Formats: sequence, structure tokens, C-alpha cells
Amino acid sequence: MGNSFGKLFQITTWGESHGTALGVVIDGCPSNIPLTTTHIQQELDRRKPGQNNLVTPREESDQISILSGVYQDKTLGTPISLFIANKDANPSEYKEIQNKYRPSHADYTYHKKFNTPILSGGGRASARETATRVAAGAVAKQLLRSFNIDVVAWVDSVRHIQASVNTDHVSREHVDATTVRCPDSAVSQQMIDYISTIKKQKDSVGGVIKAVIRGVPVGIGNPVFDKLDADLAKALMSIPAAKAIAIGEGYQSTQMLGSEHNDILYYKDDKVRTKTNHAGGIVGGISNGESIIISVGFKPPSSIGKTQPTIDLDNNETSLTFQGRHDPCVLPRAVPVVEAMIQLVLTDHILRQQCNTTF
Ligand SMILES: Cc1cc2nc3c(=O)[nH]c(=O)nc-3n(C[C@H](O)[C@H](O)[C@H](O)COP(=O)(O)O)c2cc1C
Repeated sequence: MGNSFGKLFQITTWGESHGTALGVVIDGCPSNIPLTTTHIQQELDRRKPGQNNLVTPREESDQISILSGVYQDKTLGTPISLFIANKDANPSEYKEIQNKYRPSHADYTYHKKFNTPILSGGGRASARETATRVAAGAVAKQLLRSFNIDVVAWVDSVRHIQASVNTDHVSREHVDATTVRCPDSAVSQQMIDYISTIKKQKDSVGGVIKAVIRGVPVGIGNPVFDKLDADLAKALMSIPAAKAIAIGEGYQSTQMLGSEHNDILYYKDDKVRTKTNHAGGIVGGISNGESIIISVGFKPPSSIGKTQPTIDLDNNETSLTFQGRHDPCVLPRAVPVVEAMIQLVLTDHILRQQCNTTF
């Protein structure tokens, strides 16, 4: 039913935005990986709502509980079950959309698919579900640590405001230095001001999150349907509001000649490297040892305070002025979600690689 992801390191997430709780079951995590609630909580705190005035004011502490699979701060090799209670759901804010569809939200498609009432808070279409992915990603991150694989994502653009970031040196500390999670200090304030202006106008705005994955060894990724780039694209496109993925040069590569785009191989210090990295670290669906560079384009979130025309459940024309709490821009909170989805894919593929290699 589409609630599970991964082959060897497999997660199943559950829970609705305004239900009692959310959670995730992780199956396939090897034993003896160090894991405490702190490892998970610090990732969840980056995604939680109410952090600052750029994001939705919903007050959720997103306190994590580990229900199973961990003993004396190490994984047991058995299913890990993680639980997050919903504390600040406010269904009264959603009264107006009980009988109306929000334009470009999932109310209409979920209603037609499941033939159930429109759920306040967006049910499982809500980005509330991404808390469980971040929790699972924190577990994957613990495993990737032992392989020295490091994933850093940041807000690279907000609409027309473009950052300039050195992918070799960008760190989590640079990213978290500003509330907008853009490590380019020269443009981050412009982004903050712009999102605040758009919020005052009761509108919303999108942009691009970019990520670098450093330390991936050569050979990760499986031909032909489970190519590393294909699995990353699927994982990242499953994030609510994600609309575009680019690996390496992405669409820019369509404007380059072969002689410009080819990454020239050379050999130095016992290592094969490439002089450029237009491919973004993946060739033939398999990592080539260079950093993996990936971008995700996010649309402006659809719940806005401006009055818009729509239709009701009986197909009558009406209008909607959405009163609920919402993010004017999903990007700052989506950064940890992007990292989590990348960590989940890499962990799954690293574990699968153990089956591919000859002993
Ligand atoms: C971190 C995050 C926060 C989001 N917050 C909101 C929000 O406050 N309001 C909203 O309408 N959409 C929000 N979204 C996006 C919706 O969940 C999404 O647009 C909706 O489910 C429809 O799916 P689609 O845009 O992928 O087609 C958010 C997405 C993410 C990743």
C-alpha cells in the first residue's frame, strides 16, 4: 500500500496528522549499532514545527520514544519501533475544508481514492508524516557513521534568490547557523526577509534544497531498476511538495556538449578520481567515489490564507480562505527530511552491497 520503503533496511511508517500518534517500524537494521533517543531527537528537533516565525506555529515537541529493538543503547538486530505522540492538533482550524477541497492539496485525490471524509490536518498527505522518516533517517545515519558517509543538505534557493555554496566544505554547522538553513550568509537574510514578506501577503513560496553526500565508496547501486540515482529520485520525490530532482548537472547537462560534460578520469595516490563532477558522483546507476550531488525542487505549499475559488464535495463552485496553521515555505523544515531520505537509501544500498561482493 506504499507505506513501506527499502529492501534490506526497510521502514514502514504509520499515523495521520491529527491522529493520536505517528510512528515507524524499521526492519533490517543490523545489531550493535549505537542508538539512543538523543541521536533521534536531535534530528527531529530540526524538522519540528514552531521553531521560528518562518515555519508553521503548530506546537509539537515531537518527543521520540523507542519501543523496541534497542537494549543498553545498542540495536538488537530486531525490529525497531519508534513512536511520536501528536499533541497540538487543532481540528477546528480545518472545519472550513471539511466540505471543500484545498486547491493543489491532496484533499480531492485522497477523497476520491479512499472514499473517506476529508481528514483534518491532511491525514497522511500531511508533512507531519515526515517526522517518522526523519526518525528512521537518524537510525540510518548511525549506521552510515561507521562507513564515514556524511550527508549535508541546505536551502540553495528560495524562488529567485540563489545561494552560492561550496559543496566540498559545507557542514551541518554552516547550514544550521541561520533559521532558513542556507549556509551562504550573504543571501540567507534576503531569503528570510522574502519568506516573511510572502507570509504577510498570506501567500507561499518554493525553492530548491541541495545535498552533498561525501564518502560513498565506488560500487554502491544496483543495475538495472535499483540504480542508486533511481532510488534516490524515488525517495526524494516521495517527500510532500517535492516536484523536481536533479543529479549532478541535471537539466543543465542538456545544454552541454559531450566534451564539456565528460568527467575526465585520472589516477593519483592509489585512487581513481575525476577532474570534474558533472555526473554528480553516480555513473550507470553506481557510485564512482566522487561526492554525490543532488537537488530537490519544492513547490510553494498549497495552504494559503488568500481567498481562492474552489469547489465543494457536491461539485458546487465556492471559495476558500484557509485559516489553519501552515508553512509559508517548506524548505527550512524539509532540509532534515531530504537528508533522512538520502540516508535511508544509502543504508539500504550499502547493506545490499554486502550481498554483491565476493567473500
Ligand atoms: C516539511 C514540510 C512542510 C509542509 N507544510 C505544509 C503546509 O504547512 N501547508 C501545505 O499546504 N503543505 C505543506 N507541505 C506540503 C504538502 O504536504 C503537500 O503539498 C501535499 O501533501 C500535496 O502533495 P504534493 O504537493 O506532493 O502533490 C509541507 C511539506 C513539507 C515537506
